[in-house]
Amino acid sequence: MIMFQWKQYELGVCYYPEQWDESLWREDLRRMKEAGIGTVRVAEFCWVIFEPAEGEFHFELFDRFLNLCEEEGIKVILGTPTATPPAWLTEAYPEVLNAMPDGTLYRHGARRHYNYNSPIYQQYCKRIVEEMAKHYGAHPAVIGWQIDNELNCETDEFHAEADSVAFRAFLKEKYKTLDNLNQAWGTVVWSGSYTAWDQIYTPRPVLNNGHNPSYLLDYYRFISDSCIRFAAMQAEILKKYRKDGDFITTNGLFGNLDNHALMQDVLDVYTYDSYPDFAFGLDRDPKTSTDLNDRKWSRNLIETHSVCPHFGIMEQQSGGGGWVNRMEMPAPRPGQLTLWAMQSVAHGADFISFFRWRTAPYGTDLYWHGILDYDNRDNRKLHEVKAFGELLKKIAPVCGAEHVASFALLKDYDNVWDAQADLWHRRISSFSEKEIFVSSQLHHTPYDIVYLTDDTPSSVLERYPVMLYAHPMIMTEKRAALLTQYVENGGTLIVGCRSGLKDINGKAVMLPQPGLLQNLTGTDIQDFTLVSPAEENDPAYPVFNDIITPLEGTAVLNRYRASYYAGEACLTEKRLGKGKTIHLGSAFSRETVKKLLKQTGILEPFRDVIEAPESVELIMREKDGKRYLFALNYLANTQTLKLKRSVYSAFDEKQLSGEVTLPPYGTAVYAL
Ligand code: GAL
Repeated sequence: MIMFQWKQYELGVCYYPEQWDESLWREDLRRMKEAGIGTVRVAEFCWVIFEPAEGEFHFELFDRFLNLCEEEGIKVILGTPTATPPAWLTEAYPEVLNAMPDGTLYRHGARRHYNYNSPIYQQYCKRIVEEMAKHYGAHPAVIGWQIDNELNCETDEFHAEADSVAFRAFLKEKYKTLDNLNQAWGTVVWSGSYTAWDQIYTPRPVLNNGHNPSYLLDYYRFISDSCIRFAAMQAEILKKYRKDGDFITTNGLFGNLDNHALMQDVLDVYTYDSYPDFAFGLDRDPKTSTDLNDRKWSRNLIETHSVCPHFGIMEQQSGGGGWVNRMEMPAPRPGQLTLWAMQSVAHGADFISFFRWRTAPYGTDLYWHGILDYDNRDNRKLHEVKAFGELLKKIAPVCGAEHVASFALLKDYDNVWDAQADLWHRRISSFSEKEIFVSSQLHHTPYDIVYLTDDTPSSVLERYPVMLYAHPMIMTEKRAALLTQYVENGGTLIVGCRSGLKDINGKAVMLPQPGLLQNLTGTDIQDFTLVSPAEENDPAYPVFNDIITPLEGTAVLNRYRASYYAGEACLTEKRLGKGKTIHLGSAFSRETVKKLLKQTGILEPFRDVIEAPESVELIMREKDGKRYLFALNYLANTQTLKLKRSVYSAFDEKQLSGEVTLPPYGTAVYAL
C-alpha cells in the first residue's frame, strides 16, 4: 500500500554540510533555491558526527544546519547513518563487520562494511536511530527519513559469524527438522546431508564454487529477509517520533532483496538512485553496442515503477561518475543531464534529487561529480538543473499520472534468485529479459513489470491483455492456478522454454514438461537441448530449445528449421476459456518478441499519434482522462518525429502537428 505520494514535482539535492565550511551553507541554500531546488537529503553517513564516542551524542552541527534550512525554507530528508559504523564501534566489536566467504572481515575505511544480523550492531543502530529520531522527529524542516543508504549495494552477500547463526535460525523456522531441510535441498547428492544445524554456514569457499543450488536459493531468501528485518527495526523507531505526514523511504534497487516486500512492509514510498552514465563508462563499448545500453536505466526505472508506481529519485546523476579506484565515466554531454532526469519523470518519478550539490574535494567519491565542481562557480550543469525545473513547471499536471503499458512482464523473486544459482537458468533469462526490453523500446510498445507471488490478486493480472512470463522455471500450484484464471478470463499468456521445470526449492519436478503449466500450454516436452554452437542455428529461436509436442487442441504456429529436430514445433497456441497461452520453445529474441506483440495485437500502440525513430523512447502517462506522451532522444544528433495529429507540446507551449524535431538529447511532452 502506498502511503506517501508527492503532490507536485519537486527538485532536491544531496548535500553534505559536514564536508564544507559553515560559511558556505547559507549561500549554498540560496543558490539551490535560485536553481529551483527545495529539498536536501543529508546525514546518511554521519554516525561519527552524531556519536563521536560510544554513548556521547552531538547534534550541534546538524541543529545549526537544519535551523538554517528552516530559515531559508528548504525541506530536509534525514538519512539514518547505519551504512557507516564509526571506527570506535568496529574496533570495539569486530563482530559487527561483514566478512568475505572465507571469513576475512571487511574493515573500517569504506562503507557498508557491517552485517545485518549482529545483535550488537542492531543494538547500536537502534540507539543511534532512536537518538536521531527523538532529536529531529519534530523539526519543522524535516519532511522525511531515509533508512540507511542503498541497502545491499557494494555487496549483497553477508558472511559474518552472526549471519551464519541467523541463517540457521531462519532455516530452523522454515524447515523445523534437518530431515525436511535435507529433503528440500536434495543433499543426498555428494554426501551433502547435514546431521547438525551447526554444520550449516553462509556459503563458504568450495571447489569450483559448486554449491548446491537449493541451498543458495534459501541463502538469497535469507539475505532478503535479514535486510528487511534490519530496515523494519529502524522504521519502527522512526514511526514513534516522526511528524504526521513525514515519510520513510530508502534508496536504491539492489540484489538479494525482495524490494516489493520491503516497500509493502516497511516503507511509505520508494526512492531510486539513477546513474545512467554507467552506460558510457570506459569499461563499455557504447559505440558498437546493440543493447540500447544508453537507455538501460529505463529498464531499471520500469523495475522501480513496479515496486512503487509513484516513486522519487534520491540520487539523480548530475555529473560524470567515478570513485578514485573504480568506475570511470565521462561528463554528461550538454542536454544529457536533462534527458536522464526527464527519463526518471517519464517513468514515474515525482521527486528528483540530484547527486550531489558540489563534488567532494576529497575521499573515495572524489570524481563522482555533482552539479557544481570543486571551484564552486556556476556552470552548465547548474543551468541545466534550473532549466529542467522550469520544464517541470510546464508539465505540472502530469505529476502523479499513471503509466500506460501495453503488456506486463511477469517476474518473481524465486526465479530471479534461482537464476543466480543456476547458470543455465541465468543464461536463458538474462538473454530474454534484455531482448524483451530492446524489442519493446525499438517498437515503442511499453510494458509494466509485475512480480507474481502465490497471493497476487487476480485483478492485478487482469489489468493487462497480454502477460509475458518469459521463463518461470520455478512454478507453484497457486501461481499456476492464478495464471489459469487469467487465461480463462480472456488474457493472453506467453511463456518460453524451460517453464515449469522446478519446484519452489529449485529442484526439477518428475513431471512431463512444462510441469504444472501443461494444462495451460497444451504441450509436452519430451526432448530439449541448449542450442549447440557447433551447428547453424536459427537466430529466431536462441539459447535453448524445448522440442514441443502439441497435445490435442493445440495449434502449431511455427516449427524449428535447424538441427535434428527441424520440423518439430517451436511455437504453439492453446485456447482455454476466453483466452489463450502461447508457448515458445526457446529464449526470446527481439524479432520473436516483435512478432508476438504483433500477433497479439498490441504492437506500437501510439502509431496513430506519432511516428518516432528507434532512437527515441516513447512513454505514455495518463491522469484525469488526459494522456501525455513523453519523447526522449538518446542520441547526440537531431531526430525527426512525425505527429500524425495535432497535439499540445508542453515545452513549446503550442499545438504542433506534422514533422517536428528533437534536438540532441532533447525531450518533449505532448498532451493528447
Ligand atoms: C551512490 C551513493 C552515493 C555516492 C554515489 C557515487 O551509490 O549512494 O553516496 O557515493 O553512489 O559513488
